[in-house]
Amino acid sequence: MSISDPSLLAPHLGAPADVIPIQYHAQMLADEHRMTSFEEAINEVVKPGMRVVDLGTGTGVLSYFAARRGATVTAVEREPGVFAVARAALAHTEYRDAVQLVHADARDFVPEEPADVVVCEMLHVGLLRERQIEVIGAFKDGYRKRFGSLPRFLPEACVQAVQPVQQDFTYHGYTVPAPQFQDAFAVQPRTLEVAEPQVFQQFFYGDDLPTECAADLEFEVSRAGTLNAIRIVTKNLLAIRAQQPGSIDWLMGYLILPLAVPLQVVEGQPVRLSFHYQPGDELDVTMRSARAEVVR
Ligand SMILES: C[S@@+](CC[C@H](N)C(=O)[O-])C[C@H]1O[C@@H](n2cnc3c(N)ncnc32)[C@H](O)[C@@H]1O
Repeated sequence: MSISDPSLLAPHLGAPADVIPIQYHAQMLADEHRMTSFEEAINEVVKPGMRVVDLGTGTGVLSYFAARRGATVTAVEREPGVFAVARAALAHTEYRDAVQLVHADARDFVPEEPADVVVCEMLHVGLLRERQIEVIGAFKDGYRKRFGSLPRFLPEACVQAVQPVQQDFTYHGYTVPAPQFQDAFAVQPRTLEVAEPQVFQQFFYGDDLPTECAADLEFEVSRAGTLNAIRIVTKNLLAIRAQQPGSIDWLMGYLILPLAVPLQVVEGQPVRLSFHYQPGDELDVTMRSARAEVVR
């Protein structure tokens, strides 16, 4: 069995993903890029008097941002412990009366009145593990049945890319090719970029949602080395500006996934990378399907 065989890792990757311990919520609150991007996007999109629905509100912070803009917010959370934390935190703000907390599964939730904006952050890099697509899909079905049309979603769109890399998995002489996260804004001395990243998926939340995340792409090697991992890049376009260029984006931390079969590559060589998984799948599903091969 190869040391990077995904079946070795599978049992350790499979803890229920959408039950997020409170210490991870604290990390999300301390993630400056995430917080600033959402705050800016909510300030851009939400206007006083609007009705906002926040699916998977967690600690309630995005509902707080929306209420601070003058919106009336319905915040939905399924986990009882997290729900209690949100209730206590929101009660300490001056916007407590503007936010109605609903203890429910967001897949079954339809608001009483139409919403102007639906915020949903149940995101994991690669659209893996968490149920963003499933939850928004089910919400859209219920919402359309009741109201006909759809509200604006925040995030509005998603772009995903993949990059072939050489990852140094050896620590003090000890090699463990396990998946890992990387700060997208930090220098990564353990990662050598073997080729430029390429987009493998893009979609709008208001359109039909993807049932699969898949790549089958050819890359030209720009640096010789051992192609032993892929880097997954997920950029969430939180708000696309109508009157100014660009969008307010949240670039998530990268995900490095080791390849079961590494490949020696030389500069200028064409290589093909492929993988497929479904949104919400565990990391090992992607790893099991990921292949790199030289194009002859
Ligand atoms: C990644 S956290 C983000 C929390 C919050 N949106 C934020 O940005 O800080 C996702 C939250 O969605 C909740 N969640 C996951 N699945 C859910 C579902 N089906 N219905 C309601 N809440 C759900 C989780 O319990 C968790 O609190």
